[in-house]
Amino acid sequence: MKKEYTISLVKKDILGPACAVLTFSCPEIAQEGRPGQFVNLSCDYFLKRPFGIMCVDKEKNTFSIGVRQVGKGTEKIIEAQEGKTFTCLGPLGNGFCFDKVEKLLLVGGGTGIFPIFFAANYAKENGIPCKVVNGYRSQSEAFLYDRFACTCDDFSVTTDAGDLGVKGNVMAYLETMSDEEISESTVMVVGPGIMMRKVSEWAMNKGLSCYVSLEQRMACGIGACLVCICKIKAEKEGKEFVHKRCCKDGPVFKAEEVIW
Ligand SMILES: Cc1cc2nc3c(=O)[nH]c(=O)nc-3n(C[C@H](O)[C@H](O)[C@H](O)COP(=O)(O)OP(=O)(O)OC[C@H]3O[C@@H](n4cnc5c(N)ncnc54)[C@H](O)[C@@H]3O)c2cc1C
Ligand code: FES
Repeated sequence: MKKEYTISLVKKDILGPACAVLTFSCPEIAQEGRPGQFVNLSCDYFLKRPFGIMCVDKEKNTFSIGVRQVGKGTEKIIEAQEGKTFTCLGPLGNGFCFDKVEKLLLVGGGTGIFPIFFAANYAKENGIPCKVVNGYRSQSEAFLYDRFACTCDDFSVTTDAGDLGVKGNVMAYLETMSDEEISESTVMVVGPGIMMRKVSEWAMNKGLSCYVSLEQRMACGIGACLVCICKIKAEKEGKEFVHKRCCKDGPVFKAEEVIW
């Protein structure tokens, strides 16, 4: 069923020159949205654009997204003034499954840190022990650092520049973690493709369950146009792979099933 709403921008927090957290009023998405799900938001420039839900406030009936400007659509969204209305589809996609998760290892990079923030909050609210490792380019781009530090009892960062946390990418940190620290962890990763692939390989080598949230170009966001298909292994069906719709069947998939 199509879940389209007219929503209003109630708050804009500028995080940096080309990055902002936008908070919208929308009771339906605030009440129903789950970590790993996304919204498809109008932008005054052709098609709607997809953004992972960063957090929800069920009392205020708001939800937030973090947006990094990469092109015209995201530029228009970041430029918007409070009070502006948008059309928005959501919550969309499957989201992360927390059933049977005893311990979480969340890994974020790039704009993936925004949906990871939602998962970290969920873990806190539901008493799931959780470690977060975020990879940033540098200290000046360590967006949401303070909010993660307040939310997570166990939060570590890496920076390419080496001016905050461990120098290098998230692998530089993960490889220092002992088997005891990671045992029984379910790994959830959102970030650039190469990062998700490396973390997936590491997690699989360690025998950990791992889930990734794929970021394909999208159009409809609801499974109708097939713009967002990805290849998912299908040995059980006697095939090497099947095509799945990232927006509708995903965006979260088991890492071991993804053909990168
Ligand atoms: C499920 C999902 C969740 C997302 N969550 C977030 C989020 O929380 N915050 C955020 O800032 N962005 C997120 N994105 C990416 C965001 O949708 C794109 O950056 C945006 O659509 C680009 O629109 P644009 O018009 O500004 O840029 P365009 O002019 O469309 O593209 C500019 C550049 O960005 C690249 N690009 C565009 N879309 C994507 C994409 N989906 N994946 C990878 N590269 C892309 C293009 O190849 C091009 O190089 C998400 C994407 C998906 C599919
Ligand atoms: S974006 Fe249209 S099917 Fe996924």
